[in-house]
Amino acid sequence: MTQHYDSATPKFPHMLHGGDYNPEQWLKYPEILEKDVELLKKANINCVSLGIFSWANLEPSKDHFTFEWLDKIIDRLYENGIYTVLATPSGSRPQWLAEEYPEVLRVSEGGQRFLYGNRHNHCLTSPAYRERVRIIDTKLAERYANHPAVILWHISNEFSGDCHCELCQQAFREWVKDKYKTLDDLNHAWWSHFWSHTYTSWDQVHSPGYMGETSVHGLDLEWKRFVNHQTIDFMKEEIKAVKSVNPDIPATANLMGIYFEGLDYFEMAKELDVVSWDSYPEWHKPNENEIIARNDSLAHDMMRSTKKKPFLLMECTPSTTNWRSISKLKKPGMHCLAAINAIAHGADSIQYFQLRQSRGSAEKFHSAVISHTGTENTRVFREVTEVGELLPKLESEVYSTLTPAKVALVVDVQNKWAIDKSLGPRNQYIDYYGLIQKCYNYFWKNGICVDIVNCDSELDGYSLVIAPMLYMFRGNISDKLRSFVADGGTLVTTVFSGVVDDTDLCFLGEATKEKLSDVLGMWVEEMDSLYDEDENATDFNGKEYKLYELCELLHPTTCEVLSTYKKDFYKGLPTITRNKFEKGTAYHLAATGEGELYDDLFKMIADEAGVRAPLSSVPKGVSLTVRGDLYFLQNFDEEERTVSLDNKFSDLLSGESVEGDVVIPALSARVLKPCEKQ
Ligand code: GAL
Repeated sequence: MTQHYDSATPKFPHMLHGGDYNPEQWLKYPEILEKDVELLKKANINCVSLGIFSWANLEPSKDHFTFEWLDKIIDRLYENGIYTVLATPSGSRPQWLAEEYPEVLRVSEGGQRFLYGNRHNHCLTSPAYRERVRIIDTKLAERYANHPAVILWHISNEFSGDCHCELCQQAFREWVKDKYKTLDDLNHAWWSHFWSHTYTSWDQVHSPGYMGETSVHGLDLEWKRFVNHQTIDFMKEEIKAVKSVNPDIPATANLMGIYFEGLDYFEMAKELDVVSWDSYPEWHKPNENEIIARNDSLAHDMMRSTKKKPFLLMECTPSTTNWRSISKLKKPGMHCLAAINAIAHGADSIQYFQLRQSRGSAEKFHSAVISHTGTENTRVFREVTEVGELLPKLESEVYSTLTPAKVALVVDVQNKWAIDKSLGPRNQYIDYYGLIQKCYNYFWKNGICVDIVNCDSELDGYSLVIAPMLYMFRGNISDKLRSFVADGGTLVTTVFSGVVDDTDLCFLGEATKEKLSDVLGMWVEEMDSLYDEDENATDFNGKEYKLYELCELLHPTTCEVLSTYKKDFYKGLPTITRNKFEKGTAYHLAATGEGELYDDLFKMIADEAGVRAPLSSVPKGVSLTVRGDLYFLQNFDEEERTVSLDNKFSDLLSGESVEGDVVIPALSARVLKPCEKQ
């Protein structure tokens, strides 16, 4: 069953192929700007993102606006069939603004105000900053919101970071007061009688930081929630300003995927019409390409899931970045393959950073569609052009559609904040995302669509919910998980789950409902942490698997014990349990294990839950993703691979009919459509 959605860009309802374009850097080179249009058309570019860092050129001094250069660019591109994604310039402020309003400069957690420089570093509480942003955003909207070329607002750029100035402290106090109402409740929730840190006045509430408070974990969590709230509030003001003229132009903000921990993207996505994100995987790390592809796919899935709608890939590099320790080129084929992977996971665009390579400053060696050579005679240009040729073929099959997922994976950034601060089992590192990736692997490889959900999400419609290391049971997640299982769903929990509530207070009691002990049929007495060189093991379905990092010692109550520890003083205690609870089933995996354990366990559990893989097997290096009717078979290895098909398909890219054993060359994909559906 395929679900259909409204286009993310109704004025131009097509797969977007575009990217960040910075003509403000080239105003002294009119011949280059002229040539760019010709080259962009040749590369099948149909939209550009303009104005992201243009503030100093749009408002060179306070209240003096110079839009004429931008008018010309937008018009000229539009005459040539190229649409505009128009950005608000709040990601980087002009010098004059910081000079006149020093409050816009952030203050570090140690209390020191930063000097002017760089970007993405403004105080988002500052009334002066908000007002100057509102003015420039409104001016942009007045001038361009009804321009036929403008299809989407791009709000700011990659929101991130925090500020510890007095304005932020004051706003934080208000926010905390509003939430807790009384100091008594605050002191209880933050457990601040510990070490005599009791708050006796709201004025004592101050952001955490290395020069001050680091031991009150509730404070730490609330500060992160406040920063999240303040950032979203700032973004909402920007959206309001740009929509004040024409509410029909949708708004997006470019997010940074699943591994960025500074903001709760599920909260942010609620305010956006469409989610977009910037993906920069480290392709071609020796022997890791498949893992890198999996981890990038997980990020695509998370971005799609925040709104449960197709998303835009706002940025990717045509070849190399310039900000990693090693800037590896994308090998031939890799760019196209990565683009296909994004589309397979729900993207409705392939957009780049950057369209033209800048000549100086911090990003001059970041690759671009048009390099310093200024010609079309480059490998990168040709590969980008190829992607542009491919997109219309995919558009006719999958644009604005998704395949609903039966599997949900709980990934909650607030849980990650709490784990990082847990101060206990493994202070050197708890690999939360590593565990998530292992749980995702089987489904990713075998073409089973997975939604990423968080503690606030509804679980209706899923057959299987996997909640790895959900240390913090926030909101009403334990009630939702209980009802999900009671109604017939299958739940999987893992080690270090259901330990604290949403202010990081540990649950009290042995077997309690809060901890889901009834649903899981067991309770946890202790948890061992293993040294890095240490390991345990478990036998499961006739195979032995290694266990690392964390091992729980648990008491079964009503659960079946499927396997046990092979070593240490807890040899014989359960490692994997299964419990029938009303109409459903709940599994628990009491230790962290090697990847294969999760692949084998999830194959069994998915089969039991009626979630079937479309093909019986997929070889090493290859992953299958299904969107709509299409099977995307992708080979991330540098050797060709053969996949056995159980049906007749036509290959959308080559046009040929295929069945039986089909070869997928190195670093390439086959996009297959079952024949009977044609
Ligand atoms: C992104 C950013 C772009 C550009 C790009 C380089 O994170 O939004 O402006 O800096 O990285 O890879």
